[in-house]
Amino acid sequence: MPKLYGEITGWGAYVPPRIVTNHELEATLDTTSEWIVQRTGIHQRHIADASETTSTMAVKASWSALAQANLPSTALDLILIATSSPDYFTPPVSSMVQAALNAHNTPAMTIVTGCTGFVYALVTAHQFIETGAYRNILVVGVELLSRFVDWEDRSTSVLFGDAGGAVVMQATEKPCGLQGYALGSDGNGFQHIIMPSGGSARPFGADVLHEGSHHLQMNGREVFKFATRIFGPASDQALKMAGKTIADVDWIIPHQANLRIIQAAARDMEIPLDRFIVNIDRYANTSAASIPLALAENLDCGRIKPTDTLLLVSFGAGMTWSAAVVQMQPGK
Ligand SMILES: CC(C)(COP(=O)(O)OP(=O)(O)OC[C@H]1O[C@@H](n2cnc3c(N)ncnc32)[C@H](O)[C@@H]1OP(=O)(O)O)[C@@H](O)C(=O)NCCC(=O)NCCS
Repeated sequence: MPKLYGEITGWGAYVPPRIVTNHELEATLDTTSEWIVQRTGIHQRHIADASETTSTMAVKASWSALAQANLPSTALDLILIATSSPDYFTPPVSSMVQAALNAHNTPAMTIVTGCTGFVYALVTAHQFIETGAYRNILVVGVELLSRFVDWEDRSTSVLFGDAGGAVVMQATEKPCGLQGYALGSDGNGFQHIIMPSGGSARPFGADVLHEGSHHLQMNGREVFKFATRIFGPASDQALKMAGKTIADVDWIIPHQANLRIIQAAARDMEIPLDRFIVNIDRYANTSAASIPLALAENLDCGRIKPTDTLLLVSFGAGMTWSAAVVQMQPGK
């Protein structure tokens, strides 16, 4: 069998139209726009309205990616949805997306690794392509975290936004696609980003509702330290596997959690900040959607070319990390 590569032939993103600015949050929270901008780089976020769910956002991003790949949904061999904010705990949101896309009986699975989910899913898709098992795979990162944060908690609610991003990966014999990756998890830090209640450890009940412990909680300082510590080593490992150095990379697409984390990574890796894609100012942290959203947005405006060498780096709940070196399409 000839060697197979996963070409990324389509991409798409969806953000709900409603924008909530920092100034609007000042009206209901003990916060200031200045604090949010200085500490995070966030100016605004998009928030889904009551008619949207995680699956509806995923489906919109998916249709765009499929249209661009010129691939009917019925030709999909596998659907991977990365999210930590599904419509329901059960059934898997991936099956709901599969049904909405009319992808009859296509295997579908949800990958729940927090903000790192999209890159985890991309790496998983690549394995199925490389082995020859599947030829056409849809990979989606989507989050509707505005339904899971406590809007009275200023330390978390200002940080997140809703969005979805999708790519289509298709088998080709021309060298391209995923060239190297690094995945990791240190579950010892599981309590740093957590929804403490509503799962088997602490089932939902009146006490939970009273405490509000079903909401997302985060130890921001610990997450910050973890993110800045892991960014460089994860990138180096992925680059080494790809047989490349940072000098070969055209664009770094970091998970958009905090502008200061991105600035620290740029400093540590001695790379100018203008080689990092940054859109946290407009979308805030969209968790598993942040990398595919940044990717689609910058491909659409022509800033990133499909033949560019990209370094994707993410970190998040778990604590998990993921990095990938990708050239979406074969060079000329
Ligand atoms: C959350 C985060 C922005 C907080 O910034 P920070 O500089 O670390 O701030 P601290 O947590 O040290 O808090 C500083 C003060 O600001 C306060 N504060 C927190 N949120 C605030 C807000 N929205 N407005 C005003 N003040 C706020 C805190 O209560 C604290 O006050 P205190 O010193 O009186 O206790 C930052 O830690 C961060 O981005 N961490 C990583 C988060 C992340 O990546 N999460 C997603 C993982 S995928």
